[in-house]
Amino acid sequence: MDKLNKSSNFIKTFYDANTSHTPIWLMRQAGRYLPEYRKIRKEAGSFLNLCMNPKLSAEVTLQPLKRFDLDAAIIFSDILTIPMACNRDLKFIENEGPSLKPIKKEYEVFDLQLKNKNYLEPVYESLNIVKNQLNPDKTLIGFAGAPLTIAAYMIEGKGSYDFSKCVSFFNKYEKTFIELLKKLEIFISDHLIKQIEAGAEVIQIFESHAKIAVKENKFREFCIEPNNNIVKNIKKKYPNIPIIGFPRNAENLYIDYINNVNIDCVSIDQNVNINKLLDNLIINKERTICFQGNLDPEILLKGGNNMIDSINNILEKFTSQKHIFNLGHGVIKETPVENIDLLIKTIREWKK
Ligand code: CP3
Repeated sequence: MDKLNKSSNFIKTFYDANTSHTPIWLMRQAGRYLPEYRKIRKEAGSFLNLCMNPKLSAEVTLQPLKRFDLDAAIIFSDILTIPMACNRDLKFIENEGPSLKPIKKEYEVFDLQLKNKNYLEPVYESLNIVKNQLNPDKTLIGFAGAPLTIAAYMIEGKGSYDFSKCVSFFNKYEKTFIELLKKLEIFISDHLIKQIEAGAEVIQIFESHAKIAVKENKFREFCIEPNNNIVKNIKKKYPNIPIIGFPRNAENLYIDYINNVNIDCVSIDQNVNINKLLDNLIINKERTICFQGNLDPEILLKGGNNMIDSINNILEKFTSQKHIFNLGHGVIKETPVENIDLLIKTIREWKK
């Protein structure tokens, strides 16, 4: 059974809307905007070498907590380690992003297996190292991509604005596309359960390309069902592990995601109108959801008074809710570290 680390303010927030402290962590808090990250990344030789080296990835995971008063560490890895473990030849090309061997034929889906689990083992080792070094009042977050988001990269072979190859694949082979999501659902659930066993206390599921499902009118099949099945698989074994879902750019379907995926917290992107979202929320005393996110990373990049106003605005809107402060997407690599100091100071000075 999972133990509840109720001493941490971060964990308490999932259970109680009345905690006076608003916890904060940032997506991509470990990354290229930090000089100490760039140093270790250079030493490792490449981003993937860094992900595959448990000692170095543990060090990089802890770097932002040494510099800033953050409430949580997110393990340093990537959502694309799953396709890598399926032997889809993952590379990261400088200034371009990920590149994989694209799935073109149906048989490639039928043959798909987690053949190289050794590409996932470093994450568990790294979690172990971080857990042993982390102050007990800080929380350790594990994560994975959701099936649609990982499938989109696997079919497209790279990042894309509209994932048009992925869209044509499911238009042509819809049953096989669903089979791919099903297979990924199993691999992802297993990966997340192993992360919990290695020390992760909270899980975040990144559905970064939920927009594909929204545009194709397939939000239930491609997003809600696979995400909820993963939550079910985790909760069957670890009912008390808080799970955060992030259906980025799901627009007005966020509400469907909240109502139909049994997550404890929803992370929202910067395009979400908080008032509208809260107005549409169905009041359910048995299940109150926690909210996370919404600050535009571009606002953090620019800093100053405009940033302070935006932060206070988000804090005020979520006053009566369970709330974790975060961005609407990851920290941009040009962000000055001073802006993050100011962000955290503003959060710490906030009184409900
Ligand atoms: O600090 C953290 O948030 C934890 C580490 C983390 C990374 N990637 C490190 C990373 C997490 C949680 C991710 C998730 C991830 N990876 C997502 C979902 C979140 C999102 O951004 O929507 C996605 C889509 C990926 C895939 C991915 N990884 C892309 C498209 C890229 C290239 C874009 C870029 O910023 O270069 C990456 C690379 C990546 N993942 C970096 C980091 C720190 C930059 C690598 C470097 O050092 O060059």
